Amino acid sequence: MTDAERHQALEVIAAEVRACTDCRLHQGRTRAVPGEGDPDTEVVFVGEGPGFNEDRLGRPFVGRAGDLLVKLLAAIGWHREEVFITNIVKCRPPDNRDPEPDEIAACSKYLRRQLEILDPAVVVTLGRHSMARFMPGVRISQAHGTVRPVDPATGARSALVFAMYHPAAALRTPAIERESFDDIRGVPAALVDARRRREAASKEVQQASEPAVPLLVESEPSESTPVSAPPSPLGADDATPQLTLF
Ligand code: URA
Ligand code: SF4
Repeated sequence: MTDAERHQALEVIAAEVRACTDCRLHQGRTRAVPGEGDPDTEVVFVGEGPGFNEDRLGRPFVGRAGDLLVKLLAAIGWHREEVFITNIVKCRPPDNRDPEPDEIAACSKYLRRQLEILDPAVVVTLGRHSMARFMPGVRISQAHGTVRPVDPATGARSALVFAMYHPAAALRTPAIERESFDDIRGVPAALVDARRRREAASKEVQQASEPAVPLLVESEPSESTPVSAPPSPLGADDATPQLTLF
């Protein structure tokens, strides 16, 4: 997929989200918040759900939690425009309550499709609800700052998940804020690791598609033996600058 095709495909999902009435959260929303960022990014951040400011603007992480997220990104030399930022639920839960399991279930199709299109190398989860989807069965107090492979059923077919506390929790508790600044410094290393795994996986696919024993090819006119193009190495078709690592 080219950058333009990805952009277009993400816009199709965003339009569906804005018209969605699949759970009760649509009733209280001012604007749905599909998510935003670089369609060619390697890293997707997933928060919980829109808050007051996000609901008014239709954009993710634009309030105080967003300001902190921008500072966390700056600590590793990244900008929010270089990554993709979205949420587990796309409409604001009333009074910023936690999203309910049935709301998360109704909305999960959109995140799955976004991840299928973005094909990120790293998914950074912000908070417990997002972590529960990508790193089930762990406690955030233990799992923050750690990585593990993502289940491809999430839509991210070859990614590592990196768990972080929610920036709103960091705003409430200085110790969590300090830990969040420590944690985010691990994200570039996770990206290096994820790139290596993806390269190794794509080489395996390439090797598996080559015959183990060279076939004896009968000499035929060359136009009758079409040669399929080898799979292109990851990202080789896009001349987009990669995220700085350190
Ligand atoms: N908190 C979230 O989880 N998501 C947002 O978009 C904003 C605040
Ligand atoms: Fe639809 Fe998700 Fe909004 Fe619920 S939260 S109405 S499933 S877009």
